[in-house]
Amino acid sequence: MPASTAERQIILITGANGGIGFDTAALLASVSPRNHVIVGSRNTTKGEAALEQIQDKDPKGTASLVQLDADDDASINAAVQHIKQDFGRLDVLINNAGICKETYDGRWPSREDLRAEFETNVFGPTVLSAALLPLLRQSKAPKIINVSSGLGSISRCLATPDKSPYGAIVRVPGYRMTKSALNMLTAYQYQQLKDEGFKVWSYCPGFVITDIGRDREARKNMNGCDSSETSAQGILEIIEGQRDEEVSQFLQKYGKRYDW
Ligand SMILES: NC(=O)c1ccc[n+]([C@@H]2O[C@H](COP(=O)([O-])OP(=O)(O)OC[C@H]3O[C@@H](n4cnc5c(N)ncnc54)[C@H](OP(=O)(O)O)[C@@H]3O)[C@@H](O)[C@H]2O)c1
Repeated sequence: MPASTAERQIILITGANGGIGFDTAALLASVSPRNHVIVGSRNTTKGEAALEQIQDKDPKGTASLVQLDADDDASINAAVQHIKQDFGRLDVLINNAGICKETYDGRWPSREDLRAEFETNVFGPTVLSAALLPLLRQSKAPKIINVSSGLGSISRCLATPDKSPYGAIVRVPGYRMTKSALNMLTAYQYQQLKDEGFKVWSYCPGFVITDIGRDREARKNMNGCDSSETSAQGILEIIEGQRDEEVSQFLQKYGKRYDW
């Protein structure tokens, strides 16, 4: 028996047509009849394919699709209206959509690439979260998860190589700066909204096999590169309340945490 809207937990995931976003949408829809997952996808065809894949697995929960381009205010506003009409509220926002235009070769990023990365990774989550506040305020337990990266940890970047060899050398400075900025969004959102009962986290999904680095095949053979299903599991644990004590912090999966 499907749960009524009042009983359901309404969850929006941006960039949910592929990678970590898709695995998270599929997992959250599968685990509980309470969960309704809204698959955010900037490309409707890709979004429909993702939704079909989720529904084909006969999940316990339910799922639907919304067109959502984090770079486009008209798309954001239309998505907010759509969610308002269908559900009247949002319980969990997962700002997952992200890009990296750089190629790890040590070149400094162009202004164009910096603008694109900041647009999607920082401006999108900031504008979308603000537009969704009225719907999140209708929730009894509103949560925002900003999908960041350990590459945005400033202390990790400054750590000596013996403490953080990987953190110090990955040469995507623009991308790294966007994730540091996203972390500030997390801290700021928490400060502004905690008294209204909001819980906010930054979350690093770990180094996983997806399309983000345009090196999916190479990643499969890289030491320490996990399946993106492990990233989804970490998000499930946050939503289920297992990381509530660490609200406002910069979480990793497997119960770990980064310094900012
Ligand atoms: N993979 C890793 O090792 C890793 C590590 C740390 C953090 N992360 C973070 O994890 C998040 C998900 O990345 P991923 O690894 O799953 O990468 P991915 O496989 O490239 O997936 C990214 C998703 O974001 C979507 N997207 C890109 N630009 C968008 C926009 N303007 N509006 C809406 N959606 C947009 C993509 O849609 P299209 O299909 O239309 O391009 C895709 O669905 C990102 O924030 C990334 O920074 C990843």
